[in-house]
Amino acid sequence: MANNEFGTVFFDEITLANFDGQQWSDTQFAPSDKLPLHPATHVLHYSSTCFEGMKAFRTDDGKINVFRLDDHVKRMQNSAKALYLPIPKTEQLKAMIVDLLDKYRDQVPEFPGVAYIRPTLIGMDTSIGRAASPTETALLFVLISPVGDYFTPGAKMRVLLNTTDLRCAPHFGAVKSGGNYASALGLVMQAKEKYDTQQVIFAPNGDVQETAAANCLLINDNEVLTKGLSSEFLPGITRDSILQLAKHMGYKVTERDITADELMAWTKTGEIALSGTAAVIAPVTEVVYQDEIHPIPASSESKNSMKLRKALNDIQCGKADDIFGWVTTI
Ligand SMILES: Cc1ncc(COP(=O)(O)O)c(C=O)c1O
Repeated sequence: MANNEFGTVFFDEITLANFDGQQWSDTQFAPSDKLPLHPATHVLHYSSTCFEGMKAFRTDDGKINVFRLDDHVKRMQNSAKALYLPIPKTEQLKAMIVDLLDKYRDQVPEFPGVAYIRPTLIGMDTSIGRAASPTETALLFVLISPVGDYFTPGAKMRVLLNTTDLRCAPHFGAVKSGGNYASALGLVMQAKEKYDTQQVIFAPNGDVQETAAANCLLINDNEVLTKGLSSEFLPGITRDSILQLAKHMGYKVTERDITADELMAWTKTGEIALSGTAAVIAPVTEVVYQDEIHPIPASSESKNSMKLRKALNDIQCGKADDIFGWVTTI
């Protein structure tokens, strides 16, 4: 398992529920390797889809800890609402996740491996004539992938600071929907081809927002600084967790607009980290700006990023007290 590409191995089953236009069906277990779809299925044409990404951790005493289950369910409901998709019921979706984890609990790997949980909602109307109207029927499923450690300590993380383009349509940045990733992909690939970058920080008109798959945090010995929430980027649950933890650990936490020039000045003395469920915190080692590569000296140690990362991991794995009430133990 540890040698497989992240997200390519799955529990044998998914849980699923159908919305028939009126109500949700009961949850069923089904094989995880097939999903028969009519070629006219709404999601295939009009991207009526949203998803979540969360993790479950095996603790030393053999329990399974799901991290911030309620918050992921809430964010999925917000995404569904923005897409005019039927909104999953809170208790049903939570049970779809918990029951699947419980059934396959033996397949949740030892930390740093985890179970990566991917609830997905798709529009199921069979019509290619509904470009401008919502799907009435939908399928909700939960897919789980046992994964190894996504994070490689000391890995190069060269990012392009792009002050021209948007990751996605600005009114849709807070929605976790496939189209947003499709929209960013070309720009990520162009940066990779031109500058050999791993990621792009989108900072349209110099307003530092996020990368194609993670939020952006500026960190030093005293402070954690990041843009305040807006409709333009994803309200990351890792971002929120790090901010709460940092405050608790005595850092000053600031949420405000950050300019590209300010980020570049920060590279000289501070750390820059990308935050997201998969990697937790990934230190940026170099920023490409105006065709020049700027190394980040503090990234060689990434002292503060690693300290915050460990504090969060300890809560997730049950090694530290769950002082914020983030963990659901199965
Ligand atoms: C675009 C984008 N921004 C930010 C994040 C971080 O969100 P979270 O911390 O909830 O995983 C993600 C997902 O990982 C993402 O896809």
